Amino acid sequence: MKCIAVTNEKGGVAKTTTAVNLGAALAEMGHRVLLIDMDAQANLTLAVGADPQQIHATILDIILDNVLSTEEILKPTGIERLHLLGSNSGLNLAERLLPRQSGYETLLQKKLPFIGAKFEYVILDCPPFLGAMMSNALAVAEIALIPTQAEFFSIYALKNILALIRRIREQHNPSLAYRLLLTMFDQRNRIHRTLYQYLHEHFADGLLETVIPTDTRLRESAIAGVPVLHHAPKSRAALQYRALAQEIIHYVQETLAQPA
Ligand SMILES: Nc1ncnc2c1ncn2[C@@H]1O[C@H](COP(=O)(O)OP(=O)(O)OP(=O)(O)O)[C@@H](O)[C@H]1O
Ligand SMILES: [Mg+2]
Repeated sequence: MKCIAVTNEKGGVAKTTTAVNLGAALAEMGHRVLLIDMDAQANLTLAVGADPQQIHATILDIILDNVLSTEEILKPTGIERLHLLGSNSGLNLAERLLPRQSGYETLLQKKLPFIGAKFEYVILDCPPFLGAMMSNALAVAEIALIPTQAEFFSIYALKNILALIRRIREQHNPSLAYRLLLTMFDQRNRIHRTLYQYLHEHFADGLLETVIPTDTRLRESAIAGVPVLHHAPKSRAALQYRALAQEIIHYVQETLAQPA
């Protein structure tokens, strides 16, 4: 099982869109995937057509040992091989409750091997702030996948998430890798092209080759509650999320499969 945390302190940069569509693409390629909604906004839950009000236990209940059997709370999504551990507003308590526990940043690290045992990929959709949920996600993940827009403020904001990644590496997860994913990219926009070049020069391997274009089909598919791969299978966004899945699979095979 490999765990990918989709993360960024910046809001609205396509974290949830990336989590659901990367998950759908990996499932389409034959992998068993678990999506975990770590955000009280429950956008990932909605994105696969589930109702947050029907979610009776969340990742917080697992972390706090409120549920004994994980089996009953992992829901199928209607998409083959794609499962969901959903969220609801109860997750708002996480930022107050977790820091009261000792060693609170590694609570999920201890639980994930059990929840994720039957899956090849577990994808965590983080909320847009540097809190207990995000540090728990980074402490357990093999890859921090950081969607970012080609906008000055988005790129400026990267320094905060990268600093958190450095700290989590030192304290809890030395092998945590990160990859930047450029989203909502408009090839015709000169500033986008310039900032892409900048990221390429500054981050080298840290920047994924796949770039996600601006595509209104992604907005439609969120409303429809299905991944764009199913809503508009031939759209540019769907093609690029499949390319992203290939790039991630390749990375996992080349890098993570090697014996330490
Ligand atoms: N490539 C894209 N082209 C067009 N619209 C997009 C694209 N990616 C995401 N969007 C839209 O942008 C909005 C924000 O996306 P999303 O909810 O995935 O971001 P987020 O980072 O998860 O936000 P939050 O920080 O609130 O969790 C959504 O309406 C989504 O449909
Ligand atoms: Mg989100």
